[in-house]
This record gives sequence, C-alpha cells and structure tokens, in this order.
Amino acid sequence: EAGAEEFVPSRGGLPAMEKAVRECRGCDLHENATQAVFGEGAARARVMFVGEQPGDSEDVQGHPFVGPAGRTLDRALQEAGLRRDEVYLTNVVKHFKFEQRERGKRRIHKKPSATEVRACRPWLTAELRLVKPQLVVCLGATAAKALLGSSFRVSEHRGAVLDFPADAGLGESAPDSVVATVHPSSVLRAEDRDAAYRQFRDDLRAAVQVLG
Ligand code: URA
Ligand code: SF4
Repeated sequence: EAGAEEFVPSRGGLPAMEKAVRECRGCDLHENATQAVFGEGAARARVMFVGEQPGDSEDVQGHPFVGPAGRTLDRALQEAGLRRDEVYLTNVVKHFKFEQRERGKRRIHKKPSATEVRACRPWLTAELRLVKPQLVVCLGATAAKALLGSSFRVSEHRGAVLDFPADAGLGESAPDSVVATVHPSSVLRAEDRDAAYRQFRDDLRAAVQVLG
C-alpha cells in the first residue's frame, strides 16, 4: 500500500481535504468502514486534539468524538476552560478499524497497526500545516507514539508540556508544544472512573496553561 499521500489535495484547505479523504485508498481500512472521519473544529484553533481513530459512533455519524469517549472529552474540555468550537479535534487514522465476530454482532474496536498509522499520516500532517495550532494534545498511546516516537510512554510523561518535535517536517508552521495524556475511552474502562477522569481533566488543565 502506497499510503495517503497521493490522495491529499495540494490546495483548497480543510474543506478540500474533508472531501478528498472520502476517496482515500491509502490502506485497507476504507474497505470495511462506513466512511472516513476527518478532523473538525476551528480552522485556526490554538489547540489540536489528536485521538486514535473513529469509534463505532463516529464511523456511523461521520464526525470525530461524538460517542461515549467524546462525551468524556467534552466534559473535560469544558472543565479545562475550552469550548469545543474553539479547538480542532482529529484522529491519527481516519477510518474505523474493527472486528466483527458474526454478522449483525457488535463491532469491536481494533488498534490500528504501525503501517496503517504511517499510511494515514499525510492527512494529519496536512491538518497540522493548515490549522497551525500552538499546542497539540495527544489522546492516548497511538497518537503519542505517532507524534513523539514509538518508545514514548504516556504513563511516564502524561500532562507534561514538551517541545513539539522539530523533525516532523512542518518547518516554521510546527506547533510549539505537545502534551500527551490518556485516551478518554480508557477513563471509561478504569476501575476508579472518577479518579481517572480527574487525572485526565487535570492533564488538559496543565496543557492549556501554555496558551496563556
Ligand atoms: N476515539 C478516538 O480516538 N477518536 C474518536 O473520534 C472517537 C473515539
Ligand atoms: Fe486512507 Fe487513512 Fe483511511 Fe487508510 S485509514 S484509507 S490511509 S484515510
């Protein structure tokens, strides 16, 4: 598979991207998903949140973070002093990857492979170039490893404000900072949900400090 590069339009901004991603055949994930889910939000957002991939609800509705994880994220955004319409929300991978044991049964989320993450990367790079956020927040290990390297451990660095890596090929338009935290879906699976939620929200609060 050649990856998404040849499907990414060179002009037309985010609206052109959002149309073009629907035709992407950069990896096999488009075959079973309902539709591609592109990023959404303020075109000049100061903060970009990067998740893993659309979930079941996102795949059906065509918008990022509209399911259970999205509701947790919405609450934390609000409690960190951010409005959803002032940030930009996206995912490392734009098509839902899932396993379905039997037809008609529930679709179970599967982690995208490193190859799929690499294939889809041109879309994220294009979003970063166009939105030019000051700060990127990685939601979970898939996003953190994609942007900070495969040896990055969220558990060791969560909530810490780091310099955005200079080798991401973004040049002058690169974000200043990046913060990694857990994925909101992990909050929903945690044994002590309230404690996990508070830590997640506090990571977002720490992150927004850099916006001044
Ligand atoms: N999980 C993600 O990583 N992204 C979404 O858009 C929804 C759930
Ligand atoms: Fe293209 Fe990404 Fe979808 Fe693969 S997951 S087909 S690279 S948009």
